[in-house]
Amino acid sequence: MPHDTTHVVCRLRVNGDLRECAVTPYTTLLEALRYGLGLTGSKQGCDKGDCGACTVVVDGEPMLACISLALAYHDGPGITTIEGVAEQGRPHPLQDALDETGGAQCGFCTPGILMSAWALLQKDASPPREEIARALSGNLCRCTGYTKIFEAVELAAARLRERGAGA
Ligand code: FES
Ligand code: FES
Repeated sequence: MPHDTTHVVCRLRVNGDLRECAVTPYTTLLEALRYGLGLTGSKQGCDKGDCGACTVVVDGEPMLACISLALAYHDGPGITTIEGVAEQGRPHPLQDALDETGGAQCGFCTPGILMSAWALLQKDASPPREEIARALSGNLCRCTGYTKIFEAVELAAARLRERGAGA
């Protein structure tokens, strides 16, 4: 049976804004974000739930946008993408730390890695390395060997704690 290609309006709450785009019943959340809303930071890697490049955060939990249907999020919970983590026009400490440690090399995995780490640091301000490794276990990186990524998350966590202590 041919797929239903009827387009309907999907209203998504993304990075604090209410955004609309046309989707079919089969449009994934990743396709809606990238091609409907122009938010191309979330990467289309494997497109089948294996690599983590498409990771976004919903209700504090990382999730794979390539295996989620856009309409499931119509008028739904807030979605945070990589475009939503900068703070008042400044890079998030995780972004600075990945840059400084060399945790971002070709960069293709970096948005997904960053979103998984960002969700982790919302829950745990001082995660041990095993916890960081567990949180990033669904994000594949072919370049870094992961050590520099783990160091970046630890560096960002320390800076965020310092900032919190100074607040
Ligand atoms: Fe979604 Fe690979 S693009 S897991
Ligand atoms: Fe290249 Fe991770 S930096 S895949």
